[in-house]
Amino acid sequence: MSANILDGKAIATDIRQNIKQQVQERITAGLRPPGLAVILLGSDPASQVYVRNKRRACEEVGFKSLAYDLPADTTQTNLLALIDQLNADSTVDGILVQLPLGKHIDTERVVEQIQPDKDVDGFHPYNIGRLTLRLPLLRPCTPHGVITLLRATGQDLRGLEAVVVGASNIVGRPMMLELLLAGCTVTICHRWTRDLHKPISEADIVVAAVGKPHLIQGKWIKPGATVIDVGFTRQSDGTLTGDVEFESARQRASWITPVPGGVGPMTIATLLQNTLYATEKLHE
Ligand code: GUN
Repeated sequence: MSANILDGKAIATDIRQNIKQQVQERITAGLRPPGLAVILLGSDPASQVYVRNKRRACEEVGFKSLAYDLPADTTQTNLLALIDQLNADSTVDGILVQLPLGKHIDTERVVEQIQPDKDVDGFHPYNIGRLTLRLPLLRPCTPHGVITLLRATGQDLRGLEAVVVGASNIVGRPMMLELLLAGCTVTICHRWTRDLHKPISEADIVVAAVGKPHLIQGKWIKPGATVIDVGFTRQSDGTLTGDVEFESARQRASWITPVPGGVGPMTIATLLQNTLYATEKLHE
């Protein structure tokens, strides 16, 4: 068997096209465009690429894009003051602070300063709490984008065995909550998990979000499973590699995401969806 490729790039393009049309309809109706503020501290090359892609996507669909590029040594006080200013700005629907932040800044404190109805990353404890309680509002972009990909396979997700590898606040933990909400039986593995192979070999869905190239061997994958690779590591030769051994996993899976071109584009498409949702449902 050779798996179907879950083409995140194509699905994300459709979503972006749809959003662009909705924005045009708003403008025609005399309504303002959604506004997204993206804040970047410092010059980490990976963060710069992510932020550039987010801002570009924003402009391409007709959103108002507010760019804040601040020095790496910006104080927490000044960053909180900027967030306050954006919280009070009625043309701003979403505020995103690119992570990670420097060690001199308390990330949780910064995330909590963003008004929950402008938290288009879905990281605020209010939004995570709502997702936990089956009352989702603004949902973390990568995990929700993965759900969109899983829905695109046409499978009924209810009752499927899902394994999430990686328990980060950005991907693993909210991914667990999204899969639970979708009706999966969820196992989450992390740095203290003793035997990764066992749960993975029984899983109908594997979501890998660790950032360790080839951590998950293709031969562990249950035949017919769906494999979602969130891992994204740049190798010394410049190539991008996921957490899963792609070629051997592809021989066993029924669906698999490529790296790049799988989950990455879905994160940005979901960010745009969240921002439009905040504009239409939370700010009008
Ligand atoms: N760093 C890595 N992924 C993300 C993300 O989805 N949002 C933000 N704000 N920072 C990130």
